[in-house]
This record gives sequence, C-alpha cells and structure tokens, in this order.
Amino acid sequence: MVAAPNVNDPAFLENPFPFYELGRAMSPLVLPDRGLAMVFGYDDCAAILKDWETWSSRFPPPPDVTDPPEPTMLNSDPPRHTRLRSLVSQAFTPRMVEQLEPRIREITRELLEPALEAGACDLVAALAYPLPVIVIAEILGIPPEDRAQFKEWSDEVVASLGTGLGGGRQVRAEVFEEMREYFTRMTEERRRHPRNDLITGLVEAEQDGERLTFPDLLQMLILLLVAGNETTTNLISNAMLSFMEHRDELAKVEANPALIPSALEEVLRFNSPVQATARRPTRDVELRGRTIPAGMVTLVWLAAANRDPAQFPEPLRFDVTRSPNRHLAFGMGIHFCLGAPLARLEARVAYEELLGRATGFERTTDGPLPRVPTFFMRGVLELPIAFRRR
Ligand code: HEM
Repeated sequence: MVAAPNVNDPAFLENPFPFYELGRAMSPLVLPDRGLAMVFGYDDCAAILKDWETWSSRFPPPPDVTDPPEPTMLNSDPPRHTRLRSLVSQAFTPRMVEQLEPRIREITRELLEPALEAGACDLVAALAYPLPVIVIAEILGIPPEDRAQFKEWSDEVVASLGTGLGGGRQVRAEVFEEMREYFTRMTEERRRHPRNDLITGLVEAEQDGERLTFPDLLQMLILLLVAGNETTTNLISNAMLSFMEHRDELAKVEANPALIPSALEEVLRFNSPVQATARRPTRDVELRGRTIPAGMVTLVWLAAANRDPAQFPEPLRFDVTRSPNRHLAFGMGIHFCLGAPLARLEARVAYEELLGRATGFERTTDGPLPRVPTFFMRGVLELPIAFRRR
C-alpha cells in the first residue's frame, strides 16, 4: 500500500518523482477512506482526459460554502463548457497570439535589461513572474498601474486551489470582493467606452443576453488572470533550472537556438508546471480490475504520465531534441489548455532573448530553493542566478 503524499512536505515538493514511479506501478490507487483515487500511467490519464462524458470536471462546492462562485470553463462540462470556451477561444488561437510576438519581445527586453546590466538576478522576480502578468493584462486591457494588485489576487486564488482536493477552500471573501469591485468598475467602463481589448469582447457577449451572465464574466476574468500567470512563470523558471542541471543539453540549445521550442516542450514534460488535475466519474468505472466509484475525486497525475516509459523512451533523460514528445503538460481533450500557444510564445521569446544575450548561467545560492507550496504545481518562488553578458 502506498500512502498518499503529504502535500505540504517540502521534500515531496522538491522531488515527487519516486512517488509517481511507485504510483505508476500500482495505478489506479483507490483510497476509499480518503475519498480519493489517483491515476498515474500515460494511457489511463490520456483516456480519462479524452472521455469527458464519463469523467466530469464539475466539483460540488464544499459543504460550508453558502454562496459558491459560478464554475469557470475549467470546472464545467459540455454544453456549458463549450459555450464559455467559445467566447474567448478566438483571442487565443495561434494566429491571434503570433501577432503579440513583437510586443512580448519588447517587454522581455525591458525586463531583462537591468538584470543584464547587473550580471545577476532572481529570474522569477525579474522575468518569469512579470512577463506573463504584463502580457495577459495587456490582452485583457488592464491599465499598467493596476498590475501589482494581480500578484496578490493570483497568489490568493492559487493558494485556494491547492489546499483541498477537487473543491478547494474558497478564495477569502475580502479578496473576492476586491476582485469583484475591480472588475465591475472595469466592465462598466467598457460598456460606456468600448475598446479593442478582451474585456470589451466579453462585455459585448454579456450584453448579448443569454451568452454570459455578469457572474460568469467575472469568473472568466479571474480564470484568465490566474490560469496563465503562475503556470507560465513556472515554465520559464523550470526551464532555467532544467538547463542548469543538464549542461550538455543547454550547450546544444546555445549552439542552435532553433532548438528552443523543442527544449521547452521537454521542460514541460520533465518538470511539468501543472503536476495534476482532477476529475470525477459520473458512474462506477472499472480500471485495471479496480473500481473507482461514481463521484470519487480522481487525481490525474500529468507529471507521472509524462515520465511513463511506455510512452517516452528513457523518460528520465532530459533530451532537448526529444521527438515525438506528446506530453500531457497542457492536458488533453476538450479542456486542453486554452493558453498553450501564448505560454509557448512567451517562453520561447524569453529564452531567445536570455540565451541570445547572456551565457554562463549559475545559481548563486546553494541547497533547495523555496517552492510553490502546492502539490499540483511545480515551480520555485525564487531563482537567484548569475551570468555573463554576451
Ligand atoms: C487549462 C496547463 C498557461 C488558460 C489548462 C490545463 C492544463 C493547463 C494542464 C487543463 C486542465 C484540465 O484538463 O483539468 C497550463 C500550463 C501553462 C498554461 C502548463 C503554462 C506553461 C496558460 C495561459 C492561459 C491559460 C497562458 C491563458 C492566458 C487556461 C484555461 C484553461 C486551461 C482558460 C481551461 C480550458 C478549458 O477548461 O477548456 N492549462 N496552462 N493557461 N488553461 Fe492553461
């Protein structure tokens, strides 16, 4: 019997991979006393993500919550999911996102300049954190002076997700109220003065009547702000950590920057920013001779699937040229990450600029780095490094 991980244990957050390996050998784990099942193998994880009719993304709010927020697309099944997703999907197509490249490069250069000047920085604070926040804020149409506020909100929402399985605790009432007031003001302003931004697009969908209620609109804005920020931050910092731990692989990328996209796919596989997601079966499901009862919260360990030797030859080798590399880091099926093209673009530009302008990357502190304190995310809170300007 394998004990469920102690998700608050820093040692687990540092290295959850032995647990995943054990889990894969015994998958699925069904833990009735914890009301929890876990799935680890690539094929099973992929099959669950593809079968939304059996594996629902809806989670009832915890019993102590009296006024639960509207579920977002992430926590809805069709047809509600289809309707919500279709309202914003156009803004995130690869073609739409490509147009942002020059602006993303400009922001990246501005952020990197002081670090290059100093020859050192905390990569999280200097680049990995601010880049995605600034980009999504610009897409939505949020004024620069309000950006600092987002870190607080984003941290609060992420913390609320990580403490409970499935339901999670509620975002603190006062923080939710702040966000509600802020976006109410924002949307009222757009009703009076439409602009060419995503908030205006959503307000127009709301005015359309049936498509989007105000609470739905609010939840959508919160989802877009939060889903994309911490995850992309973690991709950018996990990439630097992976490169510094695999010098030969970094040397290949430095010699041939065309490898940056495939190197980033390998980072997504090897150090997945989102380690797990959850589903609940709508009926009793038989999986490898075990029954997962209807309604049981089931953790789908994307990060374990991403190191499954049945799918990835030599899964423990960090290989920047790996092909094919059909990792599950962005999920699969109808909930496949809406922001994947944007996250890939931001990370690519970040590394084109970083590797193009600096070399000789070294950590400037020893020992384990402080980690994002939730088991379903993998990332560090700080990454102090030094380098030489090219
Ligand atoms: C969904 C990962 C960046 C917005 C997902 C899912 C994963 C994921 C695994 C599927 C969850 C599930 O099936 O339960 C990531 C990673 C990112 C990233 C690893 C960065 C490296 C972004 C960005 C945005 C975004 C930049 C938005 C600007 C969303 C949304 C969904 C989603 C809206 C829900 C889609 C749906 O339910 O149909 N993401 N994400 N993500 N992601 Fe991302």
